[in-house]
Amino acid sequence: MARITASVYTSHVPAIGAALDQGKAGEPYWQPLFRGFDFSKQWLAEQRPDVVLLVYNDHATAFSLDFIPTFALGTAARYAPADEGYGARPVPEVLGDPELASHIAQSVIQDDFDLTLVNRMDVDHGLTVPLSLMCGQPRAWPFRVIPLAVNVVQYPAPSGRRCFQLGQAIRRAVDSFDAGLNVQIWGTGGMSHQLQGPRAGLINREWDQAWLDQLIDDPVACSQIPHIDYVREAGSEGIELVMWLIARGAMADVAGGARPVVKHRFYHVPASNTAVGHLILENP
Ligand code: DHB
Ligand code: FE
Repeated sequence: MARITASVYTSHVPAIGAALDQGKAGEPYWQPLFRGFDFSKQWLAEQRPDVVLLVYNDHATAFSLDFIPTFALGTAARYAPADEGYGARPVPEVLGDPELASHIAQSVIQDDFDLTLVNRMDVDHGLTVPLSLMCGQPRAWPFRVIPLAVNVVQYPAPSGRRCFQLGQAIRRAVDSFDAGLNVQIWGTGGMSHQLQGPRAGLINREWDQAWLDQLIDDPVACSQIPHIDYVREAGSEGIELVMWLIARGAMADVAGGARPVVKHRFYHVPASNTAVGHLILENP
């Protein structure tokens, strides 16, 4: 049977992708950030997942105000890196897993979650920057990717509680797929940042660290945090963090299993306008 073996969490700042693509990763500003992912790249290479279910948000790239799906699951065979205004990033095409994605769609929709299914889309920095942070600059991404795009850009965004429940449904879906696949789930975006208005530039280190503690130790309580608290404490774009709750909800302990092992934890400020947080949790 397919199994979710681990969850990975990371922020997705577009300038990180630009720094890598332009050969600036060794510069003093960027070096401390990329060092935080050295362990992760090694760990991921050893884990050799077959598929990563990558929870991210599109930034009005594939979707626009014409279509605003709350939860959009990619069922395509391939996804091209998007042109976000400066040309597409020079990273490999993302290969999907239509078979597992279709199974997840079937299972999760029958489990009462009304997903949107997407058979064609380009993927922006929300998806490609986490891949770059975890994989570096390979000629091909070393696993298949199932994108799950969550609307956290246009109000109303889904609650943390709903995201946490969706993660649990995804776990049930993967568990019932009849193939011996090593599956990881990644929650991306966040941490505290605000890109707009009088509070632009907001970072809240204390709140971020306390939120990470709670995500690890008491995910049920973490999932109850209301939307307004994210906006007040972590800034308007800090709401991206609800996507981490989908990955956390898919871990074994939430379904009565053993607690996950914290393999790695990293926090760094600044990266562009964003506090970068990163976690790796393994199911024992
Ligand atoms: C930045 C962060 C984001 O999450 C994003 O989508 C765009 C820009 C930034 O920190 O600059
Ligand atoms: Fe973002």
